[in-house]
Amino acid sequence: MTILLLGSGGRECALAWKISQSAACGQLFIAPGNGGTGAYGTNIDLKPTDFPAIESFCRANNVELIIVGNEDPLVAGIRDYFEKAMPEMLLVGPGADGAALEGSKDFAKQFMQRHGIPTAAYRSFTAESADEGCKFLETLKAPYVLKADGLAAGKGVLIINDLKEAQDSLREMLDGMFGNASATVVIEEFLKGIECSVFVLTDGTGNYRILPVAKDYKRIGEGDTGLNTGGMGAVSPVPFADEIFMHKVEERIVKSTVNGLKQDGIDYRGFIFLGLINVDNEPMVIEYNVRMGDPETEAVMPRIASDLLPLLIATAKGDLGNLELQEDSRTAVTVMAVSGGYPGSYQKGKVITGTEKCGESLLFHAGTSIDSDGNLITSGGRVIAATSYGSDITEAATKSFKAIESLNFDGKYFRRDIAKDLI
Ligand code: AMP
Ligand code: GLY
Repeated sequence: MTILLLGSGGRECALAWKISQSAACGQLFIAPGNGGTGAYGTNIDLKPTDFPAIESFCRANNVELIIVGNEDPLVAGIRDYFEKAMPEMLLVGPGADGAALEGSKDFAKQFMQRHGIPTAAYRSFTAESADEGCKFLETLKAPYVLKADGLAAGKGVLIINDLKEAQDSLREMLDGMFGNASATVVIEEFLKGIECSVFVLTDGTGNYRILPVAKDYKRIGEGDTGLNTGGMGAVSPVPFADEIFMHKVEERIVKSTVNGLKQDGIDYRGFIFLGLINVDNEPMVIEYNVRMGDPETEAVMPRIASDLLPLLIATAKGDLGNLELQEDSRTAVTVMAVSGGYPGSYQKGKVITGTEKCGESLLFHAGTSIDSDGNLITSGGRVIAATSYGSDITEAATKSFKAIESLNFDGKYFRRDIAKDLI
């Protein structure tokens, strides 16, 4: 089968690595891909949101399956576009209706409330109801959680300790702090607990498979300090997400979500990312995403023992049937090397060496490219992830730290405490 994978991050590199191992994988194109994805397929210089250009490419190259890595094309309606333009095309990812689970926090909260899915209590406000929003904040206890309704590149959530500051921030958000994304603001109850990420593949008919569970590390600094990033590392499996916890997740959250989508008439074929928080052993939903996580995918893909491609094809066809998704029993730990300065401003174009010294660790490229002299160079904040297997977290993490230490580029930084909180 000829496949087009859309995206350019570490997530897409890990997906390309996994998909390219399948006997069913013919030609694999990655658009636009990065300096590492070329090892598993052919990089194509196309923008994932330029649907007409993607259509022309698919027609010219007989692409049969599109796998959408990131949320932007999904929220912008890539499934809806192809259902009209090329109805025979198989596509992994929801239509704009399902993608609203990530594209609108207010929609996601209403969905959870309608289907009895455990989540923080909330109310939504717009500029017209800003005064009411300020009064509502007075009824809550600190810290205050304010969320821009729309996509804000992962920056749209503010957690504030002081009431007056929270009220000021609410007005600023409604005033356009995140552009149109914060024209509506969700205010919700603060939940205390440890987070984890659960990924589900569902085919629109009520069938689903749960992928290996993971935890990511969002802050730039060790001990979970400093600014939020796209993610500095990941671990899978997650010790606290044991059989009892995962049973609750499946019964209360996965089934209600998949059935809720069906009841609402949303033909959802793709990944659902449940951002969960463990509140005294009870799972609650912090957020939905409509794609895989990054860097979680870099730890999750190596833990899928089954061939993933038949599952993706079946998802797109709406027929997951009895296909199995087997897990690898080993632990995987992913450590991300980032550019100095990230998530603030950082330099690009630094030559990367040492990739051949990473032993048996898997390297998943994120912000890398190949320059005109054939050098591997940095081209983003998150540069390369190393994932290693181990019989436990300590063994896997030690190997990944060693791999990242073997890599060289000017300004390289990584967190040396990834997964250590779980040992
Ligand atoms: P979100 O974009 O909704 O995932 O929020 C970003 C981050 O803010 C989450 O990963 C949590 O760490 C934190 N967060 C969001 N909502 C809550 C909440 N209700 N209680 C506590 N922390 C939260
Ligand atoms: N690692 C969190 C995310 O992909 O949104």
